[in-house]
Amino acid sequence: MNRSIMVFSLAGTALILGACGMSHGTDHANHAPDVAAPKVVEGAFTTPLPRVPVLPGTGGTLTARSVRHDGGAGSFDALGYGASGMLGPTLDLRTGQVLSLTLENRLSEPTNLHWHGLTVPAEQDGHPDSATAPGASKAYSFPVVQRAGLYWYHPHAHGTTAKQAYLGLAGLIRVADDAEESFALPSGRDEHLLVLQDKRLASGVLSYSPSSEEVMTGLMGETILVNGVASPVATLRRGWNRLRILNGSNARLFQLALENGASMRVIGTDGGLLDAAATSRTVLLGPGERVDLLVDFSKSAAGESTYLKSTAFTGGGAQGSQEFRLLKFLVDREIGDTTAPDLSYAPLGLPSQTNSVRTRRFEMGGMDHGTGGHSMSSGATGMHRINGKSWDPLRVDDTVVAGSTEIWEFGNPSDEIHPVHIHGMQFGLLERTGGRAELLAHERGWKDTFVLLPGETVRAAIRFPDQPGVFLLHCHNLEHEDDGMMLQFRILP
Ligand code: C2O
Ligand code: CU
Ligand code: CU
Repeated sequence: MNRSIMVFSLAGTALILGACGMSHGTDHANHAPDVAAPKVVEGAFTTPLPRVPVLPGTGGTLTARSVRHDGGAGSFDALGYGASGMLGPTLDLRTGQVLSLTLENRLSEPTNLHWHGLTVPAEQDGHPDSATAPGASKAYSFPVVQRAGLYWYHPHAHGTTAKQAYLGLAGLIRVADDAEESFALPSGRDEHLLVLQDKRLASGVLSYSPSSEEVMTGLMGETILVNGVASPVATLRRGWNRLRILNGSNARLFQLALENGASMRVIGTDGGLLDAAATSRTVLLGPGERVDLLVDFSKSAAGESTYLKSTAFTGGGAQGSQEFRLLKFLVDREIGDTTAPDLSYAPLGLPSQTNSVRTRRFEMGGMDHGTGGHSMSSGATGMHRINGKSWDPLRVDDTVVAGSTEIWEFGNPSDEIHPVHIHGMQFGLLERTGGRAELLAHERGWKDTFVLLPGETVRAAIRFPDQPGVFLLHCHNLEHEDDGMMLQFRILP
């Protein structure tokens, strides 16, 4: 195997000196030392889990700016959408409402907003070429046409998505509707919105400057923040609790499990509730994905505790070899909702394969490296590609027709993990072949992002929304995305 020579500068930045030896065939798990998947460091689990603040109403202003963030184990400079630290406020919406928000850019570089999972007009989707200059503002306004579910927003400006999201620019969008409210699911104090993100905070400073090696694997940190706080504790009422989780990391996957071994009910995913709950002990959640879980603490005694942890998984290289705790659950004296929640929901109506007019195939990574070569400094190398092609804002690769259904097949011949994301719609997954060779419980609903481990192929059935314009398809490993692993397709009316 052709291996690059790596030299570590004093700043710990890996410089690649060799020829292009970072071949897809290199097993990142065997890199030593592995700078890219640092060992997770757990904290004390004594800081109370904060609830992310909610933006009142259906409008207002989000100001992208520098903030001081209190991460529980210390504070640091970050980016946020208000004065209250990193992570923007949760947008609490109902299907049918119109969201009208002004983005105010007080950063020193362009930024914009992308509504991950929502179907919005193309010019409001946060395309990289529609960014707001420093000091300027942009008004966004569109109707919420989604089913109830947990979506999110983050910047998508050219080449800076990974950096800005990593430094703190992201927020949740919770959409409610009558259908979801007709089910008896834990709510109020028993419904927990959780944003999971790993950061590098060992030096006490949050900064973004991935080395070439870290662009290959994606940037991972040793500290796991939940709602912006390292190793927090959540006090739960005895009874059923609903955990609605976003993996908002740039590159790290979490294989979620409860430390007491209890099984969880998987009730929803990216685009809202499944048709029925599925029982599972683990959920592998990639960057950008969401999962909705019911956990039963009705038989727990007051004072009992357990942890939400991430267990080891195969096919994940170095990061998959680690097991660590994310969040402590401490059961309260107070009794919550102990009656069993509903476990079957509305039919999904996912697009059907039989209506497909065409199949397209996308190879995620694994193509030859072209003429790009390695950069001697840190930053983009342009080696992450889809169908051998790197991001080009002037090129639209595929044209589809609104209302038509197609099968899109995604292969991963590389040795890296690629969380695939398509803008502007929700779709259904038909099957996974290779690798894990099955769909997980949370992959059997409406999706906008899914994980492709090395060697896997996933087939998706997509019915294109009646929203003409140019949209994006990209890897949601944000280092891969900014390194060029992104294409455009056009929806024709
Ligand atoms: Cu969260 Cu282009 O996506
Ligand atoms: Cu998106
Ligand atoms: Cu990728």
